Amino acid sequence: MDVLVVGGGGREHAIIKKLKESREIGKIYALPGNGGIAKDAVCVDIGATEIEKIKKFAIENKIEYAVVAPDDPLVAGCVDELQSAGIACFGPEKKAAIIEGSKVFSKNLMKKYGIPTAKYETFDNIEAALEYLESAPMPAVIKADGLALGKGVVIAETLEEAKKAVCEMMRDKKFGKSGERIVIEEFLSGPEVSVLAFTDGKTVKPMVSSMDHKRAHDGDTGLNTGGMGTIAPNPYYTKEIADVCMKEIFLPTVDAMNKEGRTFKGCLYFGLMITKDGPKVIEYNCRFGDPETQVVLPLLESDLFEVMRAVTDGNLENTEVKFKDASACCVIMASDGYPQSYQKGFEIDIPDELSDRVYVAGAKQKDGKLYTNGGRVLGVASVCETLEKAIEESYKAVEKIHFANAYYRKDIGKRALEAKK
Ligand code: AMP
Ligand code: GLY
Repeated sequence: MDVLVVGGGGREHAIIKKLKESREIGKIYALPGNGGIAKDAVCVDIGATEIEKIKKFAIENKIEYAVVAPDDPLVAGCVDELQSAGIACFGPEKKAAIIEGSKVFSKNLMKKYGIPTAKYETFDNIEAALEYLESAPMPAVIKADGLALGKGVVIAETLEEAKKAVCEMMRDKKFGKSGERIVIEEFLSGPEVSVLAFTDGKTVKPMVSSMDHKRAHDGDTGLNTGGMGTIAPNPYYTKEIADVCMKEIFLPTVDAMNKEGRTFKGCLYFGLMITKDGPKVIEYNCRFGDPETQVVLPLLESDLFEVMRAVTDGNLENTEVKFKDASACCVIMASDGYPQSYQKGFEIDIPDELSDRVYVAGAKQKDGKLYTNGGRVLGVASVCETLEKAIEESYKAVEKIHFANAYYRKDIGKRALEAKK
């Protein structure tokens, strides 16, 4: 069967590499894909949010199955459009993708159904938000309601910082319509865990847990990024915590979405914080995480395509989702300067022996060569018996990959190793 994957980052590369292992898959098209993905799929120059064009391409090429990976096409209803043309999809419909598309929606959902999360207030009026801040405890967490490329969250240490964030979002429209409404919430602390879970709206099958490293620099300093590296499994996510999460968070969320008439089918991402009062939801995403996917899928033993189709068909209960008893680490190599300004267009040299483990995010092909074309350029992942070894192998691989102005964190997995001790 020919399959279409919407998206063009490291996450999509990881999904495509895993799908290629399935015997049932014929051709894989990536829309738009990227210069590195072109090694593993047929890249088509249609953007991930060009929904009408995606649909037209799928119809003309008799695509039977589509995986919609990024948040913006999901929130904009790409799955609904493809389904209306008779194409089966992996990913939630628009009415369910709102769980990521609106933080006001997701916070209200959690409150209504008693799912543990930070205390919060929502605002659509700037004066009311500023007045509330006057007596709010600091630090306060200010969140734009809608999608904001992962940049819509500000942790304000002081009242001044908090007011500035509110003004930037609501008055200066820093995130456009996404900041017309905001959430102001209680600051929580504790280790963070990402859990991606397959769900067909009835059954929930969590994948192996992972840990992202969001800050740009070592020791979790610097600006927030899309993610500078990941490890899996996450040592903070013990069996006991996993049981609590299933009972108090995962199943209640899926139930709540059903009760709201917004059945969620696809990969539901739980961004969790393990606080002293137990695990709480920091955020939901309606999709696979990036770069979490680059450590989670290499550990998946089951056939990804079979699992995805079971999700689509509502048959997840009878489908095995099995993971290797091993550890994985992915180190992101970025363009120096990311997440702010950076240069691009430098040639990338990846030794052939590493290409199976390299997930390309921001690169372009020209005359058969690969050139940097984004902030996050690529991720290199390793699967080993121990986390220590996986980290070591990833850094050995990083040393063998070259491009001008390459930047990467040197401490991916360090905190996880310390936690294990
Ligand atoms: P989000 O985009 O909602 O995942 O937020 C980005 C990051 O901000 C998270 O990964 C956390 O590190 C941090 N964060 C978000 N909400 C809170 C909170 N209520 N308390 C403390 N940190 C938070
Ligand atoms: N790694 C965080 C995300 O995918 O949103």
